[in-house]
Amino acid sequence: MHSLRGYRAEILSVPDDPAFAGAAAVVHHQDGLLVVEDGRVAACGPHGEVAPLFPGLAIDSFPGALLVPGFVDCHVHYPQTGRIASHGEQLLEWLERHIFPAEALFADRGHADEVAGFFLGELLRNGTTSALVFPTVHSASVDALFEAALARNMRIVSGKVLMDQGPPNLRDTVASGRAESEALIARWHGKGRLGYAVTPRFALTSSDAQLADAGALLAGHRDVLMHTHLAENPDEIAAVAGRFPDSADYLDVYDRFGLVGPRSVFAHCVHMSERAMARMAAAGSGIAFCPTSNLFLGSGLFDLALADAHRVKVGMGSDVGAGTSFSILATLGEAYKVGQLRGTSLDPFRALHLATAGGAKMLGLGDRIGGLRTGQEADFVLLDSKSTALLARRSAGASLHDRLFALQILGDDRAVARTYVAGRLAHARGAPNPNDESPK
Ligand code: GUN
Ligand code: ZN
Repeated sequence: MHSLRGYRAEILSVPDDPAFAGAAAVVHHQDGLLVVEDGRVAACGPHGEVAPLFPGLAIDSFPGALLVPGFVDCHVHYPQTGRIASHGEQLLEWLERHIFPAEALFADRGHADEVAGFFLGELLRNGTTSALVFPTVHSASVDALFEAALARNMRIVSGKVLMDQGPPNLRDTVASGRAESEALIARWHGKGRLGYAVTPRFALTSSDAQLADAGALLAGHRDVLMHTHLAENPDEIAAVAGRFPDSADYLDVYDRFGLVGPRSVFAHCVHMSERAMARMAAAGSGIAFCPTSNLFLGSGLFDLALADAHRVKVGMGSDVGAGTSFSILATLGEAYKVGQLRGTSLDPFRALHLATAGGAKMLGLGDRIGGLRTGQEADFVLLDSKSTALLARRSAGASLHDRLFALQILGDDRAVARTYVAGRLAHARGAPNPNDESPK
């Protein structure tokens, strides 16, 4: 059915990176109108200019709200939702003690369905409309996620985790990993708004043969992504160096198996040499910056300035369950603090870019989402600077820059008044939400 509707609010988008494009990258309409036709942006601009072009348009008005593009979470693990805030370990021990036992439960499709539904509900509650997601080694965990995402029309990219060297109850084989991946690509890639990513967990959980097979899989499907972890933790890096003594560094391990290219997304990249960053830039690969995870696990401080110096693509990742919040606003708040410890301060307009158009570009979706450009899919969020008394106090009479920064430092799901997915209302704060029922 044909639909046409307008949304009047203060509108802000940052389609280009202000770090390189300057202030012109910021698109701001104090009294703006976003017109959505059949789930896509038909127009976006000052209300006084756009409204006359659509006589008789039905308009929803949100005075005081800030309308921004839906957030893009470039790295998150849905099976770890229930293991968020697990105490006491750094990466390798945390995986063994808290994560692998939780992931083993995803052999059960019913469990996967329940968690997938809750997970997507949390994304929407936090204004996240697109995500690159780790499931588990189980094919059924991918089916559960994609089925739930399709029902919500969300842009979700995911793919069965390859890990033939994982713990005995969480292992595939080179052959089963390949066959299941091929079947999942055929079943899901390009269906609705879904996309596939070849997903070797990390170098330590795959044999050389499986890493090589992942490279072949990627080469055989020219429009799927590659998603893995890289250079997160010193013990992990030492173990990789021990197993692959001939490789120049951790990135080079993936490179030798054909896994480093323009469709590759590497989570973390906390401990990177100039050589590795230069190689990533030359390959056109991207980094998911996961500050809450890197702080929670004590992994280290991501060097955004180093990535910038090489012009490597960067997006934001919550990395739940090592990450401590589904909120991309909260994630940007921690990114700011990591920057402070590194001697650079993350500008709030740039932060919004990284969380929207920057992430979209890294996922190969820059033409479709992230910028509120005409023709793009109408994923957007209404942010409320009055959602808490403190935020309201800090924002009263403040400049756009300061209001945005206050949202970055103080905001979370409470600041997300509404989330729209392809023009459809998918979350309204205060409305009944199945995730608010008593815990399972
Ligand atoms: N490296 C390999 N697996 C994982 C994981 O599940 N989470 C994080 N943060 N790093 C990883
Ligand atoms: Zn991760």
